Amino acid sequence: MKPSREKNRPHRQRNERRNGERLAGRRAGQLPDERLPLILEVLPNDDYALLDSGHGRKLERYGPYRIIRPEGQAIWQPAADDSEWDNVDAIFTGDTDEEGMGRWRFPRVPLGETWPMRHDGIPYLGRFTSFRHVGVFPEQASHWAHLEGLIEAARRPVKVLNLFGYTGLASLVAARAGAQVTHVDASKKAIGWARENQEMAGLSDRPIRWICEDAVKFSEREARRGNGYDIILLDPPAYGRGPKGEVWQLFQHLPALIETCRSILSPKPLAVVLTAYSIRSSFFAIHALMRDSFAGMGGRVESGELIIREQSAGRALSTSLFARWVAR
Ligand SMILES: C[S@@+](CC[C@H](N)C(=O)[O-])C[C@H]1O[C@@H](n2cnc3c(N)ncnc32)[C@H](O)[C@@H]1O
Repeated sequence: MKPSREKNRPHRQRNERRNGERLAGRRAGQLPDERLPLILEVLPNDDYALLDSGHGRKLERYGPYRIIRPEGQAIWQPAADDSEWDNVDAIFTGDTDEEGMGRWRFPRVPLGETWPMRHDGIPYLGRFTSFRHVGVFPEQASHWAHLEGLIEAARRPVKVLNLFGYTGLASLVAARAGAQVTHVDASKKAIGWARENQEMAGLSDRPIRWICEDAVKFSEREARRGNGYDIILLDPPAYGRGPKGEVWQLFQHLPALIETCRSILSPKPLAVVLTAYSIRSSFFAIHALMRDSFAGMGGRVESGELIIREQSAGRALSTSLFARWVAR
């Protein structure tokens, strides 16, 4: 059956309330096929390499720079020599909590807040932030390659919605592949960085709408307006806030947001890609949510983890869970 006709198929029960959220009942319709576990892997490359890991830290190379950051998953011993770990440009020290504050130390020369980086030929700015992040999540490159392939294979105009889009790498990859992109993030600063990246990438002439708004509010408004997207990406944090203080709690708000995402798919949708960095969950949980939400749409839900393959000893560093619905 065609997805467009299935889209508004009624739920079995309606308007159940939980945690103050208005939730529709479980969808009727056949569940999408499934493929799992699917492990999407980033290998060492010229732009980025996980050089080594261990003792709760990781040694990475971003372009020319070698940096050390805390890594809770690296419960093993480092495989590379100490000399490798001593030969670095920046070290993040401070709170070892996932989102804890800290600071960067530069053992060689003090580096500025930003540095020029590349992803697959797209120049952008890496950043030393006080939350240990560097303005890019390199494991997402697996999704970017998939996204690019879908856009190019479609051979028609493709509209992409990038929710919680951060510094915009996914938006730039999609725009370079020829898509019309709508990028939404709650942080003015992140939108500013993303726009800067667009300029730096030489993609200023590409159609990207930069929107500073709460992802839930924006997608609900798109639903009311009847706007549609062929591909939706969502990379929500476990906890966040919209620009007007709107609270985002992954476990509380994700089910309703996925429903809204389904309702704003175009008549010929290609994919919905969800990433979750919440370790409290399992990929089975977001897999079940996506499969239930896309009942009656045909296609397939593929779920698993995003990992980065370490250069030194070939160990897999798990970074996040994902589930994606693909039309084919
Ligand atoms: C995990 S980052 C996204 C990473 C990005 N997709 C990437 O691959 O580089 C989460 C982003 O969500 C944004 N955010 C948090 N709460 C939000 C909300 N309620 N609405 C929209 N964006 C939000 C943050 O500003 C941040 O940029």
